[in-house]
Amino acid sequence: MNKLVVIWLSTIAVSSPSFAQHGDASRGQRDFRMCAPCHSLEADRNMTGPSLAGLWGRRAGSLPSFERYSDALKSSGIIWDDRSLDGWLSDPDGMVPANEMPFNGIKKPQDRADLLAFLKEATKPGAASELYTQGQMGGMGGMMGGGRDQNLKSLEPAQQVKTITYCHDTYRVTTADGKTRAFWERNLRFRTDSSKDGPEREAPALVPAGMMGDRAGVIFSGPEEITKIIEQRC
Ligand code: HEC
Repeated sequence: MNKLVVIWLSTIAVSSPSFAQHGDASRGQRDFRMCAPCHSLEADRNMTGPSLAGLWGRRAGSLPSFERYSDALKSSGIIWDDRSLDGWLSDPDGMVPANEMPFNGIKKPQDRADLLAFLKEATKPGAASELYTQGQMGGMGGMMGGGRDQNLKSLEPAQQVKTITYCHDTYRVTTADGKTRAFWERNLRFRTDSSKDGPEREAPALVPAGMMGDRAGVIFSGPEEITKIIEQRC
């Protein structure tokens, strides 16, 4: 019996190249949690990485709305299909040296096949918005800060920044609920988001950063607001 199993397994390994393995799309959807912090499935919603909408048949590094591709990926000449994506996901650095995707790869062929079975459907035009409206992608963001970032145009009062003052080594952030919190200057990060998910002009958002309650970030609608809103006052 044992011998039979061994023979059967080795036949698969030899006779079927990994890209041709049959994938399970629902397992693949769960595995997409590895990618969701950096990639959305909605057209032109770019994050750390480019949107994956419309991926099959696309030339690598060619999405016009994503401006942070590495030269390595742009000049790779790869066209994304089942085979090239299997290679990319198994070993990105091996396939495109000097690419800038901070991801080590997925070693198990079955896991790649599952993920690709899911992605092939979910990257078709319109497929993602259906997934999101069905709520299927809903829980994904919360845990990992990705998938779908919070829209900062509608904020809870505790997140709505009213004033920021700076004195010696301390920032004091007052929010619309009337609370003022003090931060050591190295624990408060200033960021911007000019996209449609970013905050309204002159209405920055206070967002938690990391696990520790002593750290936070303020997201402004653009860089010019940072010095405009922060007031030096003791
Ligand atoms: C930590 C962020 C991060 C994670 C996690 C990540 N990626 Fe990426 N991905 C990127 C970045 C950044 C690029 C652009 C790389 C470059 O230009 O060299 C990229 C590029 C890609 C591309 C090429 C897209 C194009 O337009 O040519 C594909 C496909 C891709 N990633 C798929 C995935 C999948 C699938 C996963 C999950 C298994 C994943 N990535 C995980 C950040 C990430």
